[in-house]
Amino acid sequence: MEKSADTKKEVKYYTPDPSYRQNSWIGDYGRAYSEFEKDPEAFWAKIAEKLHWFSGWERVREWNFPHAKWFVNGKTNITYNCLDRHLLGERRNKVALIWKGETGEEERVFTYRQLYREVNRFANGLKKLGVVKGDRVCIYMPVIPEQVIAMLACARIGAVHSVVFGGYGASALNQRIVGAGAKIVITADMAVRRGKSTPLKHVIEEAIINAPTVEHLIVLRRELGRPVEIHGEMEIDFYELCKDVSYDCPAEVMDAEDTLFILYTSGTTGTPKGIVHTVGGYMVGVYYTTKYIFDLKESDVYWCTADPGWITGHSYVVYGPLSVGGTILISENTPDYPDPGIWWKMIEEYGVSILYTAPTAIRMFMKLGRDWPDKYNLGSLRILGSVGEPLNPEAFEWFYEVIGKKRCPIVDTWWQTETGMHMITTVLGEPMRPGFAGKSIPGVVADVVDKDGKPVEPGRSGFLVIKEPWPSMMRTVYNNEERYRRYWEMIPGCYMVGDLAIKETDGNIMVIGRSDDLIIVSGHNIGTAEVESALVSHKAVAEAAVIGKPDPLKGNTIKAFVTLRVGHPASDKLKNELIYHVRITLGPIAMPSEIEFADSLPKTRSGKIVRRVLKAREMGVDPGDISTLDE
Ligand code: WTA
Repeated sequence: MEKSADTKKEVKYYTPDPSYRQNSWIGDYGRAYSEFEKDPEAFWAKIAEKLHWFSGWERVREWNFPHAKWFVNGKTNITYNCLDRHLLGERRNKVALIWKGETGEEERVFTYRQLYREVNRFANGLKKLGVVKGDRVCIYMPVIPEQVIAMLACARIGAVHSVVFGGYGASALNQRIVGAGAKIVITADMAVRRGKSTPLKHVIEEAIINAPTVEHLIVLRRELGRPVEIHGEMEIDFYELCKDVSYDCPAEVMDAEDTLFILYTSGTTGTPKGIVHTVGGYMVGVYYTTKYIFDLKESDVYWCTADPGWITGHSYVVYGPLSVGGTILISENTPDYPDPGIWWKMIEEYGVSILYTAPTAIRMFMKLGRDWPDKYNLGSLRILGSVGEPLNPEAFEWFYEVIGKKRCPIVDTWWQTETGMHMITTVLGEPMRPGFAGKSIPGVVADVVDKDGKPVEPGRSGFLVIKEPWPSMMRTVYNNEERYRRYWEMIPGCYMVGDLAIKETDGNIMVIGRSDDLIIVSGHNIGTAEVESALVSHKAVAEAAVIGKPDPLKGNTIKAFVTLRVGHPASDKLKNELIYHVRITLGPIAMPSEIEFADSLPKTRSGKIVRRVLKAREMGVDPGDISTLDE
């Protein structure tokens, strides 16, 4: 225990065994950070040099506010670094990927060489369909090896992937396919969840009706019962496409600033934002953080429980760990199916040493009690990670004691789709303060400021910002340059994150939550506007306003206030119908858990719905200034 200078309250730090620092890739935090401060470009160049480039960069960074270029004119291919590089040395027969089915019985294993061959073969299949560098390809698949193979195959030939999480519904999917102008859509016939297979293909069929750019639909048939039919010229079987093509596909020479992928994230307006990441800077950022924040070593078995369809999966299932040459576990499972021991059983079975997961899962396990994890030997674990929302002190302590046995450091990593890589955490060996994500990692300059960009006093809340460009920053919002500029123009000279935070005198940063209209439900970002427009698309709804309600398990749940059109009387049946309507348009993750019918909604005189008033009423707190509201 130490006294905090700022609050005079006792602050509890957890300090890992010194061997963690001594043996880690990153070493001493202070020293690494000052090396970065002394010469940021040299710092990043030293990391980038560890990777393969067809030809080197001329300048490390070109900063032309608010646009940055990194590793200018450097040529590389991220899959060369994730695959080919390892085949030359001792990793050739090392296990790259282990996939586990949801009950824990089914298993598929790929060595680096096997993964390389599968990726190349599918890449050649894509080429056969006429896919060329720069084409957009939408991937809508469950967590299976082919999802990862499809991503890498796109990157191999320079096609831009836009992965859409398999839990999204038809209209959300359509919006993303149209937004990216995808030429190809890749899917599977089924996803498996809780012992049942749920068909995916009909969702796609509906989603591509008004998507004129789509030329082909590639369908992976999983042979779970009756195979789906493949129709006409437009549809192709995944493995049929791979027949008669070579297992060799040279990696396309990509400029560092060529686009690697677009990933849609919920916006504060009705339309999702297509976050654009480029090859070179993103590659360096995820390689660096996987190696130095997770300390990924040759003998580790690494498990990130996120779906590759989210940014966490892009950076820390696929590109980061493969670029470092790690052994990665993925699974299609749900944390409590067939029982809440499944994760701990898998950790024991595979000797998982690094586990990266989300607070919502930790809180769920906490509720179910320690009997489940205690049944299994978790002695292989050495590092725990958390991401997606604040890791509250109770969940931190449970994770630390019950899973990490007071031995494993926890890296609570703060970052975003937009940042591409970890930005704030407590690096290995440093004292951890529960409830606080930590400090800027070496390479990053984060701060908490007021609306004019001036640092706020320790202990007071302000806006979390990033003050210097970093290699894996998003380059733009796809087809929406103005939206991109807004991130940098809201607070002078800073990248505005959209989160509220507190920085204490010890330098640690606590992230409180979003400062905009996003609700984080079980770690998934849901835009209030998206749910509202889904509701309003129902014939009975005149207007809708959506708020997040704190929830001990999910972080937040969604509550919707709805005014009805004349002729549509309020009823419980209608409530259920509206919830179902959101489910099929946006997907199960965006379903409101509560609907309240209202005669009218609080609005400003210019007609904007003021959600904060609804939220204050719901929470039983003072709504603050309501003088701008309409009668
Ligand atoms: C929140 C996920 C507190 C935050 C990688 C951020 C967190 C948003 C943390 C980005 C954390 C993520 N502590 N809050 N460790 N990690 N967040 O784009 O509000 O899905 O802005 O990226 O999640 O969510 P996204």
